[in-house]
Amino acid sequence: MLDRNSPVGVLDSGIGGFSVVRQVQRLLPGEELIYFGDGAHVPYGNHREEEIVAMARYMFSFLESRKIKALLVACNTISCVVGQCRDAVSCPVFNAVQAGADAVAGIQADPVGVISTVFTHNSRIYPKKILERSPKKVVVLSCGCPDLAGLVEHSLGDPRGMDQVEEELRRELGPMVERDKIQCCVLGCTHYPLVADRIRRLYPELPLIDPAEEMARSLADYLERSDLAREGRGEGKLTIYTTGDVEEYTLRARQVGLERVDSVQFYPPMELCS
Ligand code: DGL
Repeated sequence: MLDRNSPVGVLDSGIGGFSVVRQVQRLLPGEELIYFGDGAHVPYGNHREEEIVAMARYMFSFLESRKIKALLVACNTISCVVGQCRDAVSCPVFNAVQAGADAVAGIQADPVGVISTVFTHNSRIYPKKILERSPKKVVVLSCGCPDLAGLVEHSLGDPRGMDQVEEELRRELGPMVERDKIQCCVLGCTHYPLVADRIRRLYPELPLIDPAEEMARSLADYLERSDLAREGRGEGKLTIYTTGDVEEYTLRARQVGLERVDSVQFYPPMELCS
């Protein structure tokens, strides 16, 4: 039976969803969060659709077994296939792409730029969702970055890795800013807000949209409306499960400023048949 004390589930292919946890911890410090990052299979953006669905369903089922009261799909790539995973959990599901499109609907910008994984870019989901939500027709330009999520995942805090992040940003995002004159940029992969300072340094005039803020707000509204918000103020905790390297996750959680981390635990990865 779900109640106010039930946890909220958050998942991503890797550490990208930490950008969503950060916002949820700011807005809802009393909630208990269970995070699942599929470190063994990151990055998802270069996998085939059937694999992404299978790996996502594996994580959904794990979180369902933890009796979560809501699930945040803190991964844009999984958000593209969320319809194929939805039946694996019984609670409400909030996804990053919908949150990004909702955030764009609240501002006046045209053209809108989106940077994402190659999978999200190829799916064309952002232009479709933004146009569905925007009151007037806007031009949506998108680009897929093949290496950016992987670089952020493994090189946060490493100066050489961060130089490579900047190089990739210049190559992929640069033309949309300089040639196409985008008026804002949706960070359409949850790994990217973790290097927002680098993006701002390169393009200081460019407004950035982080879907994580909208996701946290939607979750807060839902919990309030359904009388499921946890009572008490700042005592919520965070348990992190990863199919990857526990030490690396512990370090990353600290680097991005996550609070009240109760434990970081290994969980066996799903076996992919090649
Ligand atoms: N953080 C993820 C996203 O929002 C996925 C990155 C990846 O695994 O390729 O798309």
